[in-house]
Amino acid sequence: MVKICCIGAGYVGGPTMAVIALKCPSIEVAVVDISNPRITAWNSDQLPIYEPGLDDVVKQCRGKNLFFSTDVEKHVAEADIVFVSVNTPTKSQGLGAGKAADLTYWESAARMIADVSKSAKIVVEKSTVPVKTAEAIEKILTHNSKGIEFQILSNPEFLAEGTAIPDLFNPDRVLIGGRETPEGLKAVQALKEVYAHWVPEEQIICTNLWSAELSKLAANAFLAQRISSVNAMSALCEATGADVSHVSHAVGKDTRIGPKFLNASVGFGGSCFQKDILNLVYICECNGLPEVANYWKQVIKINDYQKSRFVNRVVSSMFNTVSGKKIGILGFAFKKDTGDTRETPAIDVCRGLLVDRAQLSIYDPQVSQDQIQKDLTMVKFDWEHPVILKPVSPTALKQVTFVWDAYEASKDAHGICILTEWDEFKTLDFQRIYDNMQKPAFVFDGRNVVDPKKLQQIGFIVYSIGKPLDQWLKDMPAVV
Ligand code: UDX
Ligand code: UDX
Ligand code: ADP
Repeated sequence: MVKICCIGAGYVGGPTMAVIALKCPSIEVAVVDISNPRITAWNSDQLPIYEPGLDDVVKQCRGKNLFFSTDVEKHVAEADIVFVSVNTPTKSQGLGAGKAADLTYWESAARMIADVSKSAKIVVEKSTVPVKTAEAIEKILTHNSKGIEFQILSNPEFLAEGTAIPDLFNPDRVLIGGRETPEGLKAVQALKEVYAHWVPEEQIICTNLWSAELSKLAANAFLAQRISSVNAMSALCEATGADVSHVSHAVGKDTRIGPKFLNASVGFGGSCFQKDILNLVYICECNGLPEVANYWKQVIKINDYQKSRFVNRVVSSMFNTVSGKKIGILGFAFKKDTGDTRETPAIDVCRGLLVDRAQLSIYDPQVSQDQIQKDLTMVKFDWEHPVILKPVSPTALKQVTFVWDAYEASKDAHGICILTEWDEFKTLDFQRIYDNMQKPAFVFDGRNVVDPKKLQQIGFIVYSIGKPLDQWLKDMPAVV
């Protein structure tokens, strides 16, 4: 029986290994992590991440050929294939701070693999890492190998949160990069056979290591660029009276462009886009390519602009002050169907409103109060000039309350901001919300989930990203 071990039971490692276990009953899969609470949660009925369909997959295989454990060394020693799916945050200090990937966790995992291995292993890079990481890892492994043979593969994961299970069941492609030596090709083939249990062969792309590593960064950069492009257009639409959803629709009909991933929003979030682009920027700078670096930087700049533009719109339309006014925040996760808040635009929007002394009442169906407090008070780095951006102070945190219902969040509020496109926000009883709000009542829709015309008929003043402006907003121009 082939044995797989995955180091890192996070958003990528957990769901990916659960699906491998489900699709390959002949393979034993162990997912290991140094975090005891994480592993305990994976072994319980309350999984540590919220992902539609995941519970079902885990239930079908856990205890059969899928195991979660903190005994990292034992499972690594026994495995034929070791996936490494540990976190790779952006470096917060030292050389490359604010841009380069922090490979501390990766390096310690690699040293541990070298240390405990007694048989040959294929080591698979699953976390998104800078190009040439595989080479560095290979060096660590071979210099500490005690004669054991290691083959390094890059097998970047393209799943998106919220749709991880369907993405894993039906991937657009699986990408495997390896050394172009006989041993390297053999290792690529071995991993290909794992995926071939359910992925059609023509969708499994094999390349060299560097192409695979760079393809992941490039794919995320292209996706983020689409959102910044449509968000840049949204500002122009508001200024000219065009409607961004009509523009997106018309543009996306061109088969060379395609209709997906063209929704204007308050900004992209998530653990990957900003981190991977900063990484790409850093690699370009290190390789003497400042023009290329600046090109990609602009994608993040537009994203920052979109978030501050939203805050300015809220403040300016409410007579240039939100001081002491209650604002209901609907949604905090970086997208619907996940409880993940990493780099969510809600952090920046809430911080911006708190600086203007608003009273926030926050509701998200999947994010805990504890998590939101952590996010608002955590230290954030200014990626362009690595200085610490001021976190929300304990005094300012007193301006924030947490509720478990959208109606409660909007009760007596002057305005509401929709920051995540949860389905339940589409079907809210807006008449009831309006009746319980202060007047004039404002809705700022950062995800284009509501029908502005319907809400205007109720009496709301509505701002929707990239849509023709309400007369009120035209009369209260924002500095955007
Ligand atoms: C992304 C990539 O899609 C995935 O392939 C990669 O493996 C990891 O990074 P993820 O961050 O989980 O996945 O979610 P994604 O659906 O890509 O959304 C990222 C952000 O962009 C979210 O904040 C989302 O709301 C925003 N977005 C997405 C838009 O604002 N508009 C869109 O049209 C699409
Ligand atoms: C373009 C648009 O495609 C068309 O829809 C619009 O109506 C007019 O402008 P055109 O300029 O005739 O059409 O040709 P197009 O095929 O788009 O190529 C434009 C340039 O891009 C060419 O120099 C082409 O060589 C280059 N190109 C195109 C690339 O360098 N790489 C590509 O992948 C595609
Ligand atoms: P991702 O979104 O890439 O999956 P996460 O942060 O969700 O990232 O998960 C990474 C996991 O890796 C965390 O649960 C962390 O505890 C784990 N981890 C980090 N370093 C090690 C290590 N050396 N050994 C085992 N697990 C590790």
